[in-house]
Amino acid sequence: MKIHYGDRDTDLDGLPGGEDFRARFDDPLFAAAYAASYQGAGPAERYFSSRLHAVFEVLDRCSGGDLLDVGCGPGVFVRRVLDARPGDFRITAVDRSPAMIVEAAGSAADAEMELVVGVAEALPFPDAGFDVVVAMGMLEYCDHAAVLRELDRVVRPGGIVLVSMLNPLSPYRLFEWGVYWPFLRLLGRVEGLLGRSPERRHGVPKSGIRALSAGRLCRQVRAAGLSPVDVVHYDLTPSVPPFDRLLGKWTRRRERPADTVTRGFRRWMGTAYLVVATGSR
Ligand SMILES: C[S@@+](CC[C@H](N)C(=O)[O-])C[C@H]1O[C@@H](n2cnc3c(N)ncnc32)[C@H](O)[C@@H]1O
Repeated sequence: MKIHYGDRDTDLDGLPGGEDFRARFDDPLFAAAYAASYQGAGPAERYFSSRLHAVFEVLDRCSGGDLLDVGCGPGVFVRRVLDARPGDFRITAVDRSPAMIVEAAGSAADAEMELVVGVAEALPFPDAGFDVVVAMGMLEYCDHAAVLRELDRVVRPGGIVLVSMLNPLSPYRLFEWGVYWPFLRLLGRVEGLLGRSPERRHGVPKSGIRALSAGRLCRQVRAAGLSPVDVVHYDLTPSVPPFDRLLGKWTRRRERPADTVTRGFRRWMGTAYLVVATGSR
């Protein structure tokens, strides 16, 4: 296992979103907690397992080769690839947060792979070096156009790029961002006025998320030089937070992973979606 520090600099202060959420990703405790949220029985686990199902549907059509995970976080996805497809992929994973890279190194300590600290807007890799490039749960925090251009640059002609994006038009996200989070922040302020200690107050930190609709993202993917070939909506739910926690307790038991993704009319229920594109240089 090798950890490298990318040698291409980019001005992080010029990137969207401010410092709050970046500091969170840089916190080793957050990195470990994020990895743990893939387990359990809450909405986060529901989201992650549906996304993994959608991604592996695509990956299972690839015979193998060089795979790059951009914004790899604590390395849960690369761990799944190592377990599900042993020996098929030579894996490189990059993240701008050293804490995430250290967590990823711990979860894949037995594996031969390259771990790199670097930013997606200036990937420290040569052109056309990868057959599969995955960027999950990270584009929302970045300069979309700059990252997509980099994904196009590093993928081989005919190679596959998979990017995920939260679906800003789903009832789930509209309610979460427009009602639920503002309510929790307001509640926290009222609790503050009533003298409750900061650690016991409700609240939601600034997320830094900038989500695009599937139509807009596909246009940006095309503008970057890639060719979109598929859009899969995943984590289908008719519920909204926090009620999905309760609903999940009895729906999850009957749910098959294939029922949590769609390319059809139920896509409005997808809390997120995946765009699959091919490299066309
Ligand atoms: C929500 S986590 C997703 C992690 C992982 N891909 C997953 O789905 O489990 C977002 C990750 O993207 C990384 N990230 C955010 N902006 C980035 C950038 N500009 N370049 C590289 N990594 C970035 C963060 O450090 C964090 O680890």
